[in-house]
Amino acid sequence: MKIEALPLAEMRTHRSEKWRGFPSDVLPLFVAEMDFPVAQPIQDILMQMISHSDMGYLSSIPELGKAFSDFSKRHWNWDVNPEYVRLCTDVGVGMVEVLRATTQPGDKVLVNSPIYQNFYNWIKETKVELIDVPFIQNGLNWSVDFDAIEKIYASGLKVHALCSPHNPLGRIYSREELSKFAQLAKKYGVVVISDEIHGPLALSEHEFVPFLSVSPEAAEVGICVTSASKAFNIAGLKSALIVSQSAQMHELLAKMPMSVHYRSSILGAFAAVEAFNKGDEWLAGAISTIESNAHYLKTLLDTQLPAAKYEIPKCSYLAWVDVSGLGLGEDPSQVFLEKGKVAFNAGKIYGASASQFVRINLATSESVLAEAVNRMVKSL
Ligand SMILES: Cc1ncc(COP(=O)(O)O)c(C=O)c1O
Repeated sequence: MKIEALPLAEMRTHRSEKWRGFPSDVLPLFVAEMDFPVAQPIQDILMQMISHSDMGYLSSIPELGKAFSDFSKRHWNWDVNPEYVRLCTDVGVGMVEVLRATTQPGDKVLVNSPIYQNFYNWIKETKVELIDVPFIQNGLNWSVDFDAIEKIYASGLKVHALCSPHNPLGRIYSREELSKFAQLAKKYGVVVISDEIHGPLALSEHEFVPFLSVSPEAAEVGICVTSASKAFNIAGLKSALIVSQSAQMHELLAKMPMSVHYRSSILGAFAAVEAFNKGDEWLAGAISTIESNAHYLKTLLDTQLPAAKYEIPKCSYLAWVDVSGLGLGEDPSQVFLEKGKVAFNAGKIYGASASQFVRINLATSESVLAEAVNRMVKSL
């Protein structure tokens, strides 16, 4: 059953970044929040905890490791040891703390641009050196530059920070690609930190493969940082997971301060337990709506703005649209904002090569998407 987006008038009363980031005459399709109502089991546990004034400090939460492990087995046939699942505030905090545990300031950390902009911020915050090996672009197809990556691995790289599945490309790394990263990482002593926050959102015929599950080498070299927050639309609840697969990595992560766990939120942690245990039906409905919206946007663009090029993403709810054919100058998103009063994410924040792209949020209603395309047309 598809999940219907809440009406625009109701969404406009929301207090989050998506609805406060711009004045009310702007239609916001930027930050990755959904317009969908949160799953009933999540609402129920939150209501229950609030009505019982159950909002104290976090203790240990064995339910969370167990719930994530069961979810991973059901969805990806991945065997996760519940004891190797750690709690942290959000994926950003998790990435920074794992970087701190695996690097010294000045160490080299690899990313592949274009990439979710906070990878640049996490690297800066950790005071490590950013190395970028961009994807090889061929039209709308982006492929991994393994030759360049191996050279960098061989040059004393400490960490490869992966965005898997990939935001903003909507790309899912194949099992072969991930196995190759693992093999190379083992050979050259690199740690792979895989941000898998979009993992539960693979669109129907596509398979998401968790990095740690691909091979014994991946289990040895890898750490996963993930969360229920993106797939279940609860980013404000501040709860995410750091997962390892080998005793050695588990021990290495024990170096992290205890506060990494305690700075999370009790509401977020128990909401995540419910999401992983009881959210499958809602998730399938959300994916079905996203997929249908992805096709709807394609039809809208093909008919009204054929110079804008875009392929249905393999994962998640972010359309990655090439608007270079529209000739809108250095930052097309700014033209859409100023002339059309519609807010997308600017491609340039993900990497210099992506300046002619915009990222459009698909987790909304058909009417919002239709209005967004109207506004794009009006911008020209
Ligand atoms: C790839 C990726 N990682 C992390 C985040 C942010 O996660 P958090 O809010 O848990 O820090 C996002 C948000 O869109 C994302 O796309």
